[in-house]
Amino acid sequence: MSVNKEIKKVTTNTLHNMKAAGEKISMLTAYDYSFAKIIDNAGIDVILVGDSASNVMAGHETTLPITLDQMIYHAASVIRAINRSLVVVDLPFGSYQSNSDIALASAIRIMKESGGHSIKLEGGEEVLKSIKKIVSAGIPVMGHLGLTPQSIYKFGTYTVRAKEEDEANKLRNDAKLLEEAGCFAIVLEKIPAALAKEVSESISIPTIGIGAGGHCDGQVLVMHDMLGINTEFKPRFLRQYLNIHEQATTAVQQYIKDVKSNDFPNETEQY
Ligand code: KIV
Repeated sequence: MSVNKEIKKVTTNTLHNMKAAGEKISMLTAYDYSFAKIIDNAGIDVILVGDSASNVMAGHETTLPITLDQMIYHAASVIRAINRSLVVVDLPFGSYQSNSDIALASAIRIMKESGGHSIKLEGGEEVLKSIKKIVSAGIPVMGHLGLTPQSIYKFGTYTVRAKEEDEANKLRNDAKLLEEAGCFAIVLEKIPAALAKEVSESISIPTIGIGAGGHCDGQVLVMHDMLGINTEFKPRFLRQYLNIHEQATTAVQQYIKDVKSNDFPNETEQY
């Protein structure tokens, strides 16, 4: 394999330095080769192979059904496309909650079989032992606090988390514990902006927000939502940059018309 020495690859160290320099971190999800190539070429810092693939790629209602094998398939496709970005791969539901040995085994499978650069898992104190074990095996870990979609049946709703003081205090404490355990960054999902600001200022590792306001050290969105591929999900925090759903529908309708009317293919589109 040839290594392009001109491209400066993003590492966990780069993210640490970006936080120290006050430079915001950009992160988007991707699950396949073609979109990962577009996003990487566009200059994104971090690509998350999120378990949101369960929703946007497979059409499930929650992130729970996606398997470790399926995450590895998506991550390997993304890895084949990228030159520069740091790739983080979600440990799916069921692949780490039982105990820290299983968590480490799952993280190792992701690193070996997909070529991903790091893993992400959801939770605070409950998963601390697993995080420490994975980090001590040399695998970079991104934490995820606030709305953790793998616990949706516990929460019962996708509403904003940590609005009450008890939950906010647990989140403050969890963020510190994740930093001490060696996480290189933490996703803060759907929590009050003021709390995200306080947490971001209280730890030295970067926070990446989604629905957590503008004071996080970086931002992440699900690619299908921000490109308007999936138009069913329109939370307040989402900025939609394109409407691919509408554009693709128009293009497909035009193609159907052209085929039916014998306009396609024309003489230059044949051999
Ligand atoms: O799976 C995912 O897309 C995520 C982001 C929402 C952070 O975890």
